[in-house]
Amino acid sequence: MHKIAMLGAGFIGTFYTNTIQRSRSEDRISLVYNRTPETAREFAKTFDIPRWTSDADEAINDPEIDLVIVALPNFLHKEFIIKAANAGKGVLCTKPLGRTGEEAREILDAVEKAGVFHGYLEDLVYNPKTLKALDFVHKGTLGRILWARSRETHPGPHSPHFFDKEKAGGGALIDMGCHCAEICRSFIGKDVRPVEALGHIDTLVHPIAAEDFSIGLVRFENGAVAQIEAAWTFRGGMDLRDEISGTEGTIWLNHWLRTGFEVFTSGGGQGYVAEKMESDKGWLFPVGNEEDALGYIEMFNDMFDAYEKNEAPTETFYDGYVVNCVLDAIYKSGKTGQWEPVEIEDWRGGKHEKVKTTKDYDDEHILIKDEIMPDGKHKFILQHKETGRVSQIVK
Ligand SMILES: NC(=O)c1ccc[n+]([C@@H]2O[C@H](COP(=O)([O-])OP(=O)(O)OC[C@H]3O[C@@H](n4cnc5c(N)ncnc54)[C@H](O)[C@@H]3O)[C@@H](O)[C@H]2O)c1
Repeated sequence: MHKIAMLGAGFIGTFYTNTIQRSRSEDRISLVYNRTPETAREFAKTFDIPRWTSDADEAINDPEIDLVIVALPNFLHKEFIIKAANAGKGVLCTKPLGRTGEEAREILDAVEKAGVFHGYLEDLVYNPKTLKALDFVHKGTLGRILWARSRETHPGPHSPHFFDKEKAGGGALIDMGCHCAEICRSFIGKDVRPVEALGHIDTLVHPIAAEDFSIGLVRFENGAVAQIEAAWTFRGGMDLRDEISGTEGTIWLNHWLRTGFEVFTSGGGQGYVAEKMESDKGWLFPVGNEEDALGYIEMFNDMFDAYEKNEAPTETFYDGYVVNCVLDAIYKSGKTGQWEPVEIEDWRGGKHEKVKTTKDYDDEHILIKDEIMPDGKHKFILQHKETGRVSQIVK
């Protein structure tokens, strides 16, 4: 049975604690830290946590604790992770790992030097739909993955630190593009190196120094492209969608607004419906189990299983570091208007050349396209192997 300290009793601390505390597993939060004692005490009472403190060092150094979960704003991740690593504790951290690739690198170095367990809490690669979609991809059902598109947009976050460029390390891109980057990496292959990025970032709605709108294209070494769409300008709730397209197939995923559960009410009165839902009147799109749909359940299962087996979980701080490097390149490109290299100091993945798959039609021709026409005939568009001439045969 793990003895876990939860650092932070805010929005994500609540989601994490709900997930861990409500299951029938033996994993339990033993201690919660929050800087305000009243909130810490109340949180402990709500979730049946035996102990609480408003002293972070006390929580991290508590001899009973073996795992620390960092559920605090971005600007505190490095400080608290390094404290946990120095205390020899395993540490799990919410996204993004750092505010920049450089900060993430310092965090990664600290845990690796201390030799402690580390897990990057990127929940959106663990939700049931994504896990099933990844299974299709890993079995080759989609062929070679060419394009992964991930969108996370909503009207804006729920606390001031997100809107503070210095504290957050950016705006919508660092906040939500980090999910999209890791979702795309997971589908394209985490072993494939992201090489360069093109970004468009802008501030369209909120009166803030950081961006509230961003689109990034990331080219991977094997030619695959990730399309990252992260914005705080979307109205109507939270739009979480992914599209994966390969040489042999396509997957479309819709995680939030159209989940097959739709309610109409003229009067409202429900109050909270689902994360970032803007109204409780009219057509509503509730989510059956938010912890499940967002991947928290499988994420903590993976983290705790890996911890027990002394193995690396699916998502480690190295993944968090690569994500930060990808976002750095999109930010840089957003300023220069050019493709910018994704600078990863020590690439631990593989080398993947761009592969062009061709099919022979006959000894002399390569098949470019086979299409069934309205009259039912097949039209084969061909390229001559020697002359390069393009022709067609209709059968
Ligand atoms: N899906 C996800 O994985 C997900 C979703 C939301 C937030 N997050 C991440 O979780 C982190 C926290 O976000 P949140 O939504 O819980 O924010 P929040 O504002 O709801 O809660 C923040 C928590 O940090 C504490 N805190 C704030 N400033 C502090 C300070 N200076 N010193 C000590 N404690 C301080 C607050 O007391 C509170 O417990 C962020 O890094 C965010 O990116 C992840």
